[in-house]
Amino acid sequence: MTTSERSSQENTTGTHNKSSQEKLAELHDMKAGALLGGGLRRIETQHKKGKLTARERIDLLLDPDTFNELDMFVTHRSSDFGLAEQRIPGDGVVTGYGHIDGRLVYVFSQDFTVFGGSMSEANAEKICKIMDMAMKNGAPVIGLNDGGGARIQEGVVSLGAYADIFLRNTLASGVVPQISAVMGPAAGGAVYSPALTDFIFMVEETSYMFVTGPDVVKSVTHEDVTFEQLGGARVHNTTSGVAHFSCPSEPDCIRMIRQLLSYLPANNLEDPPRTTPGDSPRRAEEVLDSIVPENPNKAYDMKEVIHHIVDDGDFFEVQETFAQNIVIGFARLNGRPVGIVAQQPRALAGVLDINASDKAARFVRFCDCFNIPILTFVDVPGFLPGVGQEHNGIIRHGAKLLYAYCEATVPKITVITRKAYGGAYDVMSSKHIRGDINYAWPSAEIAVMGGDAAVKILFKDEIEKAANPEQRSKELAAEYMEKFGNPYIAASRGYIDEIIEPRHTRYKLITALEMLKNKRDNNPPKKHGNIPL
Ligand code: HXC
Repeated sequence: MTTSERSSQENTTGTHNKSSQEKLAELHDMKAGALLGGGLRRIETQHKKGKLTARERIDLLLDPDTFNELDMFVTHRSSDFGLAEQRIPGDGVVTGYGHIDGRLVYVFSQDFTVFGGSMSEANAEKICKIMDMAMKNGAPVIGLNDGGGARIQEGVVSLGAYADIFLRNTLASGVVPQISAVMGPAAGGAVYSPALTDFIFMVEETSYMFVTGPDVVKSVTHEDVTFEQLGGARVHNTTSGVAHFSCPSEPDCIRMIRQLLSYLPANNLEDPPRTTPGDSPRRAEEVLDSIVPENPNKAYDMKEVIHHIVDDGDFFEVQETFAQNIVIGFARLNGRPVGIVAQQPRALAGVLDINASDKAARFVRFCDCFNIPILTFVDVPGFLPGVGQEHNGIIRHGAKLLYAYCEATVPKITVITRKAYGGAYDVMSSKHIRGDINYAWPSAEIAVMGGDAAVKILFKDEIEKAANPEQRSKELAAEYMEKFGNPYIAASRGYIDEIIEPRHTRYKLITALEMLKNKRDNNPPKKHGNIPL
C-alpha cells in the first residue's frame, strides 16, 4: 500500500480521534514516504546511471533551506493498466519555489524513479501551477527534465497535459526567463517544452533529446544510430544548435544555471541585477591597440578582445560550440550585465551564415525581452556565399538577425574592430537600425565590399586589358581600400559616433552604457511583428 493510500484509509478510520502529536507523526511519516519517490531500489538505479534524484538536484540548485515544495501529496487519478494500485505521492515530479543567490525562482524536477518521470495529467497540473505562479509573481522557471515522455497508461490525457505546459511556456516567453536542463531522456513531443524555453542545458553522456528515437529512425530511414549520436549533448550543442550549454556533470550543469541567472532580471519589468564591480572602469588595455593584425586577411581571437574589455575578464559564453563564427554570451561592464554578440574572425573569417544568423538573432531577442543592453563587436566580411547557403535560405535566416536588431529597443552599442562589409554592416547593429552609440577602431574598414571583389566589378574591362591583369587588379584594389577601407567616411556621415583608441574601449563602453541607462524607445503598437521564421 502506498503512503497516500495509507493516509486516505486512516482519514476514513478516524484521524480526527488522534492527538496532535499523533497527527504530527502521521504528517512526518507521509512526508518521509513521499521523499522516497519510487523507492530505494529505483533511487539506487538512478545513482548507478551517474544521475542524481529529482530532490538531490533541487538541493544543489537552490540556496540551502530555501525550497518550499508544493503538491507533495498529489497523485494521479488513473486506474487503467494497474495504475489504481500504484499511486505514489508527488506522481513523478517535484515542484515548488526557493531562492538562488537570494532571488526567487520556481522549479520543477522530474522524478525518474516514479513511472520514469513520465508526464501524467496530475504531474502537468503541478508544473502548470508553478508556471502560473511564476508569471503572476514575476520570477524565472527552471525545469529539470528527466522523464520517459507521455505517461503511456494515460493515453491522450497525457498529450493534453503536455499541451497545457506548451501553452504556458509560450505565454511566459518574454515575461519571465525560462531555463531547461535535460538530465536524462527527453523524447517525442516532450522535447518541445524545453525547446520553447530560453536556454537548454544538457548533461554529457546521460541526457538525450529527439523527436523520434533510434528504433524509429532505423525503421524509417534505415540509419543506424545510437541515442548519443542521435540526440546527445554534443550533437545538440555543436550540430543542431538546439541546446545552449553542454555540461560535463550534473553538478556542473546546476552551477552553470545559477551563474546564468546572475545576469538575468527576474522578469521583463525589471532591470538585470547590478553587482559592485571590482574592476576599474578606466582600466586601459594597451594590447588592444595592436590586436588587429596588419594583414586584413589574418585572423585574431575576438574572445580575447572581449576578455580584455569586460569586468574581471569574465565572459559567460552561450552556444560555445555551435556556429563558432559568431560569439554570444553575457558579461558585465562596471557591474551592469550586457549581452555580447561578436564576429569571430578565427572561424570562417567571422562570416555571417545561416547558423550564425539564427544563433545571434535569438540571443538578441532574448536580451531585448529582458532589458539587457546589447554590445556588438563587428568584424564581418559579409554573408557566406554558396549554393548550399542560398538554397537553405540564407536570405530568410539573415533576415532574422536583421529583424531582431531592428526591433530591439534596449541600449545598443556597437564597436567595429575591422571589417564591416556590405549588408552585414547594416545588420550588425548599425546606426541606421537604431544603434545608440556606434564606435569604430582606427583599423575599421567600412565598405560595400572588400577591395579585391570591388575592383573586379568596377574595373573589369581595364583589368582584362592590362598587360599584367593580376598586378593591375592588386593596384586598383589597394587604391580602393586606401579610399574606402577606413572608418572616416562613415564617421563623416555620423554613421560612426566616435573613432576610439582600442585601449580605451572598456571605458568608452561603460560611459555609453551609463548614458543610456534610462533609454526609452518603443516600436509602433501592434499585436506582434512577423519575424521571418
Ligand atoms: C509510463 C514509463 C514511461 C512512460 C518509462 N516508464 N517511460 N511509464 N510511461 N512513458 C517507466 C518504466 O515502465 C519503468 O517502470 C520506469 O519508468 C523506468 O523505465 P526503464 O525503461 O526501466 O528505464 P530505462 O531503461 O532507463 O529507459 C528509459 C526510457 C524507456 C528510454 C525512457 O523507459 C522508454 O523508452 N520509455 C518510453 C519512452 C516513450 O516512448 N515515451 C512516449 C514518447 S511519445 P518500473 O516500474 O519498471 O520502474 C511522447 C508524446 C508526447 O512523449 C507528446 C507531447 C505532445
